[in-house]
Amino acid sequence: MTEYSLPEPGSDGLSELERTIGARKSRRSFADEPVGIETVATLLWSVQGLTHERDAVAMRASPSAGATFPMVAFLSVAPGGCDDLEAGLYRYVPDEHRLDPAIEESIHEDLTAAALDQAVVRGAPATIALAADYDRTTRQYPDHGDRYVHMEAGHAAQNALLVCESRGLNACPVGAFDDAELTETLALPDELDPLYLVPFGEPADDE
Ligand SMILES: Cc1cc2nc3c(=O)[nH]c(=O)nc-3n(C[C@H](O)[C@H](O)[C@H](O)COP(=O)(O)O)c2cc1C
Repeated sequence: MTEYSLPEPGSDGLSELERTIGARKSRRSFADEPVGIETVATLLWSVQGLTHERDAVAMRASPSAGATFPMVAFLSVAPGGCDDLEAGLYRYVPDEHRLDPAIEESIHEDLTAAALDQAVVRGAPATIALAADYDRTTRQYPDHGDRYVHMEAGHAAQNALLVCESRGLNACPVGAFDDAELTETLALPDELDPLYLVPFGEPADDE
């Protein structure tokens, strides 16, 4: 076998998704503007929303090892972060495509502190927080379950990043945070561990 120079990506035409993949980058500054509820809805759907059925079980926009679905998506809305939602923390309910209140006051300051005071979290009008119930997956896959859960967080976050890119929003994946502080800030039940944050918002003029 010999080395082979590949055709340019998209030499047969780029699809919309492929253009979005090519344009995505971590974008860390946000306009001082609220995000639209339609955007919030589409983003959460892309992370964990229902898309199809198999054997009468609802499947989701992100793949899940053995359809164990360990991932839970939360949405933190900063004060003024979304005209249609009060500031606070919400839990996304995939089966109903609904947001349930989880904490009925802003957690924005604490969320920023838990994320090591990163400006990308401080400046974002809203942040998706992914948490996982590892047991759901490790019960079925004792050897590889932990690894699968991490893979799933990547799938889910990437969907959100690509939806943001395709809608002209800025977003950045954030994995640097204090685990205990974030668990407390999100008031996570015992079975959930925090895994990933995706702050997002309208782009700042200078980006
Ligand atoms: C698992 C993971 C954790 C990350 N955590 C952070 C973070 O805490 N803060 C941040 O600003 N960027 C974070 N990033 C973004 C990376 O810095 C960024 O993806 C990398 O520099 C490549 O740049 P690009 O995303 O623009 O292609 C993280 C990315 C990944 C995949």
